[in-house]
Amino acid sequence: MTTNTSTLAIGARAVRKSFGDHVALDGVDLTVTKGTIFALLGPNGAGKTTVVNILSTLLKPDAGTATVAGFDVATHPADVRESISLTGQFAAVDEILTGRENLILMARLRRVKDAGQTADDLLARFQLTDAAKRRVATYSGGMRRRLDIAMSLIGNPPVIFLDEPTTGLDPQARIEVWNSVKELAGQGTTVLLTTQYLDEAEQLADRIAILHQGRIIANGTLAELKQLLPPAKVEYVEKQPTLEDVFLAIVGATGTDGDPAMTAASAPTSKEQR
Ligand SMILES: Nc1ncnc2c1ncn2[C@@H]1O[C@H](COP(=O)(O)OP(=O)(O)OP(=O)(O)O)[C@@H](O)[C@H]1O
Ligand SMILES: [Mg+2]
Repeated sequence: MTTNTSTLAIGARAVRKSFGDHVALDGVDLTVTKGTIFALLGPNGAGKTTVVNILSTLLKPDAGTATVAGFDVATHPADVRESISLTGQFAAVDEILTGRENLILMARLRRVKDAGQTADDLLARFQLTDAAKRRVATYSGGMRRRLDIAMSLIGNPPVIFLDEPTTGLDPQARIEVWNSVKELAGQGTTVLLTTQYLDEAEQLADRIAILHQGRIIANGTLAELKQLLPPAKVEYVEKQPTLEDVFLAIVGATGTDGDPAMTAASAPTSKEQR
């Protein structure tokens, strides 16, 4: 690999993976620089979760090499696991426990010294303090996702994988997750996220790779990707607000899901996982 190893957080080269006859990854190359946000964009079945699972050592590649935080996933999987956290495509919080209990459990698993204080700090940071003592079964989809991401930050891993962090969230909850991700990268954490949403990649990512049928078909900054198309034609159109602008203007930019009474009365549809 030609990239400077001191700035390389994630590197993959010629990674291949098949499930039976089905080729899920057909030679994937990636480099992610430390402290940046990298978005892996692709439709259903493109291979995004397979890439994340290989980089996080949940799956072994059939061929190719990958390093994460300086460790080879094939030869040093335990060191890779110590250096990462993975927030999977489907929230992995325990419904029976409260939000605070989930965080404390994770803090103990990660051998963090002051588990209670760590949990309280994260609850505050993710606007979950009011809901801290409620069972997660009563949380909205956005609250679960925020708790899931909060859990992944315990122990300050240098590399974080987020597999479709905002799928199923309402616009406010998506913006809250985006802000948390930006904050993480601002503190030097490397984030690799997968998404099907073009606007999510546009909003968040320093670099974007487009995965299609197991191959990376484009890779670059947003500006570089835009240059792949011919220069835009200038047309004068009246700009109408988007539905998202209208939604946010009416509902407000901050979520209300910390307060169950408010949410039930004022934004019933925002409670549902779509
Ligand atoms: N364990 C498995 N066994 C068989 N096929 C699998 C397995 N895991 C993934 N696949 C197949 O590999 C391909 C890539 O799957 P993957 O889950 O990586 O896609 P994805 O980009 O994450 O899709 P989505 O957006 O739906 O989450 C799909 O065709 C999928 O059916
Ligand atoms: Mg997936």
